[in-house]
Amino acid sequence: MKVLLVGSGGREHALAWALSRSSKCETLYCAPGNPGIEACAQRVPIAAEDVQGLCAFAKDKGVDLVVIGPEAPLVLGLADALHEVGIAVFGPGAQAARLEGSKGFMKDLCAKYAIPTAAYGRFTDLEQASAFIRDQGVPIVIKADGLAAGKGVIICETEEEALQAAKNMLSGSAFGDAGAEIVIEEFLSGEELSYFALADGKAMLPLTSAQDHKRVGDGDTGPNTGGMGAYSPAHLMDPVLEEKIIHRIIEPTIKAMIAEGCPFTGVLYAGVMIVEGEPFLIEYNARFGDPECQPMMMRLQGDLLDILYAGATGKLAEIRGQVTWSPQTALCVVMASKGYPNTYKKGTVIRGFDKVSGADGLMVFHAGTAKNDQGELVNAGGRVLGVTALGSTIAEAQRRAYEAVDKIVWPEGFCRRDIGWRALESEKAA
Ligand code: AMP
Ligand code: GLY
Repeated sequence: MKVLLVGSGGREHALAWALSRSSKCETLYCAPGNPGIEACAQRVPIAAEDVQGLCAFAKDKGVDLVVIGPEAPLVLGLADALHEVGIAVFGPGAQAARLEGSKGFMKDLCAKYAIPTAAYGRFTDLEQASAFIRDQGVPIVIKADGLAAGKGVIICETEEEALQAAKNMLSGSAFGDAGAEIVIEEFLSGEELSYFALADGKAMLPLTSAQDHKRVGDGDTGPNTGGMGAYSPAHLMDPVLEEKIIHRIIEPTIKAMIAEGCPFTGVLYAGVMIVEGEPFLIEYNARFGDPECQPMMMRLQGDLLDILYAGATGKLAEIRGQVTWSPQTALCVVMASKGYPNTYKKGTVIRGFDKVSGADGLMVFHAGTAKNDQGELVNAGGRVLGVTALGSTIAEAQRRAYEAVDKIVWPEGFCRRDIGWRALESEKAA
């Protein structure tokens, strides 16, 4: 099969690595890809948001399957455009991608179909929003309705902060059009995990769990980022909790989307808050998580191409037994540019790669990397490398990942030193 993977981050490097290992993968293209992806795919210089360009390329090359990594092209309707030209696509159409693209849509769906989530209101008017904030009290959560690169959520401890956040979003100064409507939500206190399932428009297939570390600093402090590290499976997960998440959240959502006339195809990524043992949906994403995808791909034992093709063609029921996971834990440490998630210097040289490659169960996935004129590897984005290791315990996976991190020579980069800390504490307590 000829496969086109869309995207250029660490998630796409992990997907490219797993897809390229399939015996059915004859040619793997990646648009636009990154220097790490070059080892397993042919890069194509077309931007992930260039819907027309990607459709034309896929048609021209006779691509059998397009796998869409990031959310932006999903929300723009890339999957719909590819369907129109008769190409199988893994990823939802624009209507179904509203589960991620509009927090208001997601919350209304939960309300209509009794899916457990935090109490909320939707607002476009500042006065009404302010009255709701005063009425509800703090802490309270203010969210931009649209996509804001993972930064559109503000947890407010004081009323002034909440009123200011609502004002900044509704005026357009914080997130432009994405904040023209906001969701104001009850604050839920608990521990979070991510749960992933596939859907093919009819059926669903559970995947596995992970836990992300969104804050930039050790001990979960500082501003939110796209994710500074992740491990899989999540330590909180057990069969009872998994059943609850599937039966109360995932399955009702798949059925609701069918009933609403926009069946979901692709990966459904649920951000779930566990409050006293009970799961509440915090958010949906319509794609694999980044960096969660990196440890997940290290644990996946089935053939990713078979799995995604079945998802794209309504045949998930046929491959149910093929999706198995290593019982080991995989842990990914993100190395980011100093300054991220704010401004940072680009073009700084990263060395020491030769010392970490080649080990079993260890991968350095590229995200925001590029080559300079001398052919050296440099940073080109905020999150730059995902150093990912397998271990028989979380402690071992963590040790192996940080041993590799410490061999990479990049003075202008940084990472959190505590990825997996919650799991480690519970492993020690057990
Ligand atoms: P989201 O982009 O919706 O995942 O939100 C980013 C982060 O904000 C989540 O991962 C949570 O840690 C936090 N968050 C979002 N909504 C709530 C809520 N209702 N209660 C507590 N924390 C929340
Ligand atoms: N790691 C969070 C996300 O992919 O949205």
